[in-house]
Amino acid sequence: MLAIAQSAVLVGITSFPVRVEVQAERGIPTFELVGLAEAAVRESRVRVKSALAGVGVDISECRVTVNLAPADVKKSGSSFDLAIALGTLVALGAIPEESIAGVLLLGELSLNGGMQSLRGVVAHLLGAKERGVVRAIVPRANEREAALVDGVEVELASTLGEIVDALRGKGALRQPKVVASATVTSPIDDLSDVRGQHGARRALEICASGAHNLLMMGPPGAGKTMLARRLPGILPALSREEALEVIAIHGVAGLLGTTSSLVVERPFRAPHHTASDVALVGGGEHSRPGEVSLSHHGVLFLDELSELRRTALEALRQPLEDGVVTVCRMRMTVTFPARPMLIGATNPCPCGNYGDGTPRCGCGFEAIRQYRRRLSGPLLDRLDFHVVLPRVDLLELQSASGGESSAVVRARVEASRATQRERWRRGEVSVQANAHLSQRDVERVCALDATGKDVLAQAVERRGLSARAYGKVLRLARTIADMDGATAIAAKHVMEAVLGRVLDRDQTNGRPFETDAA
Ligand SMILES: Nc1ncnc2c1ncn2[C@@H]1O[C@H](COP(=O)(O)OP(=O)(O)OP(=O)(O)O)[C@@H](O)[C@H]1O
Ligand SMILES: [Mg+2]
Repeated sequence: MLAIAQSAVLVGITSFPVRVEVQAERGIPTFELVGLAEAAVRESRVRVKSALAGVGVDISECRVTVNLAPADVKKSGSSFDLAIALGTLVALGAIPEESIAGVLLLGELSLNGGMQSLRGVVAHLLGAKERGVVRAIVPRANEREAALVDGVEVELASTLGEIVDALRGKGALRQPKVVASATVTSPIDDLSDVRGQHGARRALEICASGAHNLLMMGPPGAGKTMLARRLPGILPALSREEALEVIAIHGVAGLLGTTSSLVVERPFRAPHHTASDVALVGGGEHSRPGEVSLSHHGVLFLDELSELRRTALEALRQPLEDGVVTVCRMRMTVTFPARPMLIGATNPCPCGNYGDGTPRCGCGFEAIRQYRRRLSGPLLDRLDFHVVLPRVDLLELQSASGGESSAVVRARVEASRATQRERWRRGEVSVQANAHLSQRDVERVCALDATGKDVLAQAVERRGLSARAYGKVLRLARTIADMDGATAIAAKHVMEAVLGRVLDRDQTNGRPFETDAA
């Protein structure tokens, strides 16, 4: 008889339903699998045959034909094993047909019938919930993820044998226990460790408040990496939806660890500057998410920004603008969310000491110019706020206490985010954070008074701000005003926002700047 089982395939982080049709009968032994299946899926035949033998069903005298529908969606991965095995059992009359009707079946089987842990369970269950699927069976090893999604009745199993017994009415499968997911910030990285660097601390807080991108330029050992690592700790806690999205992306990438509970922190990703374009933006043979998606809702830290390859910078430009990455692969377009806060860090010159005085910078004018030119205009444009860090003063380093703790700063950040969310809730703007305001939103909520306009006009003239940088300044000024609790943007808010464009000048008109060597 023909049996039908329900499974699913992931395209990006979207789960698409796959109908597994199985025809099985006594006959010349064959096991055919059709329906645009990749090699890993075709290998399923070997695993299923062996696993079925383990539950006492020998298909070596059977003609089995499996069709994965719809046929125009490429099937990859090994999660169809369970559906194929149970479909075969139904087709052979070994378990009742209605026992698997409408149940989403996900699992890779080992030769002895064990259920292997699976990638992307959260993404699958979120998709199932959306499609109105009410029941699913997944590997026990994915319990923590299964517990996160409500609205689908999930059952867990470690072996095919357990499932067959349960479907025959002998015993029941266990349901996932809800494990509390906590938002914690690593107590090791606190802002109070940072001595001095008041300007950079302020810049970090402004950017955290409005989700703006930040560029830090400073000599080696000034604390750039240190500050960037402390950014997740001052960002507001992830909402439940955001956390699920983060887990879905990391789950698809196979990056969820194996600890007993899922701790949901904002991601912090710091890829090396030699990372490939695919590693940064995603794609490749298996259409995996790249760093820009793995840091969605978190922080993407690009250290040594001037050393990053040109093609990588180019590849990042579009995702940073759109908040999504689209990768194309064999007729399929895969889209991943990609909205991190970007933090770039760079030295001011090849030796790192320019503008410092002690020790003197030995780089020539041309060398510095070349070095800075690598931070291309378009990328610099996308880094909303620039801050130049001085070397840390010895007295400050020796001082007993650092600045405010992450918790204190986070409370303020949360307050200004709440103001922004409130505007969104009232329908005044289309997004929840100032950095993402659309052009129309900006026109609506970033109006300047006459003095503010004047300040900005002078900045445009002196620094040669691009149209994009102009818009960034307005959004930043909105954030600074929000931090100040001000409804209207005042001139002082614009002034501080304009200070955040310090590096535009040497890029746009190439005006010479002094070096110690010159
Ligand atoms: N402002 C600071 N307050 C306290 N300690 C600091 C500060 N800046 C640097 N340090 C100390 O120096 C170490 C190196 O700092 P960090 O790695 O952040 O420098 P960096 O600016 O990223 O340098 P590089 O340009 O070489 O990457 C830190 O781990 C910390 O111990
Ligand atoms: Mg560093």
